[in-house]
Amino acid sequence: MRVAMIGTGYVGLVSGACFADFGHDVVCIDKDAGKIARLKQGEIPIFEPGLDALVERNVREGRLSFSVDAADAVRNADAVFIAVGTPSRRGDGYADLSYVHAAAEEIAGLMDGFTVIVTKSTVPVGTGDEIEDIVRKASPNADFAVVSNPEFLREGAAIEDFKRPDRVVVGTDDERAKAVMNELYRPLFLNETPIVFTGRRTSELIKYAANAFLALKITFINEIADLCEAVGADVQQVARGIGLDKRIGNKFLNAGPGYGGSCFPKDTLALVRTAQDAKAPLRLIETTVEINDVRKKAMAGRVADVLEGDLTGKVIGVLGLTFKPNTDDMRDAPSLDIVPALQAMGATVQAYDPEGHEARQMLPGVAFKAGPYEAVEGADAVVIITEWDQFRALDLDRMKTLMKSPNVVDLRNIYRPDDMRARGFRYSSIGRG
Ligand code: UGA
Repeated sequence: MRVAMIGTGYVGLVSGACFADFGHDVVCIDKDAGKIARLKQGEIPIFEPGLDALVERNVREGRLSFSVDAADAVRNADAVFIAVGTPSRRGDGYADLSYVHAAAEEIAGLMDGFTVIVTKSTVPVGTGDEIEDIVRKASPNADFAVVSNPEFLREGAAIEDFKRPDRVVVGTDDERAKAVMNELYRPLFLNETPIVFTGRRTSELIKYAANAFLALKITFINEIADLCEAVGADVQQVARGIGLDKRIGNKFLNAGPGYGGSCFPKDTLALVRTAQDAKAPLRLIETTVEINDVRKKAMAGRVADVLEGDLTGKVIGVLGLTFKPNTDDMRDAPSLDIVPALQAMGATVQAYDPEGHEARQMLPGVAFKAGPYEAVEGADAVVIITEWDQFRALDLDRMKTLMKSPNVVDLRNIYRPDDMRARGFRYSSIGRG
């Protein structure tokens, strides 16, 4: 199959490379000429484990190419994917669809023969209908179908999620489009991946409902963690105790500083807006959004608590800035709330993150260090915000010697309270009263 992928952001690049690896012919298109030039030279603009090798192999074997010009790729394509960004519109939280609409206009003028237009971008319910209207108006005689095919890729595990998904969701009633989508995902039949065919609006909603549910699950365990602290229980044991019930499941029950990233905060907010407009408000999700925002801001208070409430003139070492490990993504990372709050309380912050280079622009006044031990040196307290593997087995004796006072606030529960105390740390974590 010939695929044109519009947008070489996170989703477009991973999906394009994976489709090429399945054996399809893929052209990834982006308006950003600099980005395309870099991709052509084998430079990957994001940090995603395994993606550089995957791109390199498929380019070398002639199945994957990059272009700023959509014309040829769209004309020849069996399927054109829209994988452009849908950021939160400033001020009101609605998804900004201007890139999606522009892509639809562009595709409309270029298609030749029956073409399946597939929306991979996360778009509110009804966007498929809008795309169909745009294309039909611009090109009244075109032969096409618009399909929704949401992505469920986790940053840091995106290739695995694409190649071994729990399910693929395809929203269309068009039989020819179904055949094309079946062919595109045929390599997954081997692992018996369920392909869930639904109506287009249903498919659009599945994406939001999945992310909202996961955000709710995390928020639930975060609140249970607070309760654990208040009543002297252990949230990790509670999570295990409930998670072994297959109806609940053990995933996404790690208590922490609140969810961040490019998806949960944006998608929960957009879903809330959709539901309000439809006069079917989602009060659970509205509350989830609110609790999570408050939680992220409150985390700095935990650091203040271990230092008797006063951070004036104190040095805080921060380990981990990205919204989760194995990504360089800083979008809506809890660190963006926590670090400025520490500074506002009078602390000096020194930090280390293996990949969060963008933090340098986003967190003024922070001293960025070359490694974890440099970041803890001279610190009155250390706070672990992101659970990078390299923080899980730090040389604790060395760390203690380097620190001014042995205070550790572990917002990801990567260490054991009894062990940390035995080593002479004053240790605080999440939900382990
Ligand atoms: C999320 C979904 O997991 C993907 O299925 C979805 O495709 C993607 O959004 C998207 O819509 O594009 P992602 O944002 O990459 O993926 O990251 P997650 O692994 O889901 O983590 C999101 C946030 O929740 C992180 O801040 C993480 O630290 C936090 N989290 C996650 C917890 O605090 N506890 C958990 O148990 C799990």
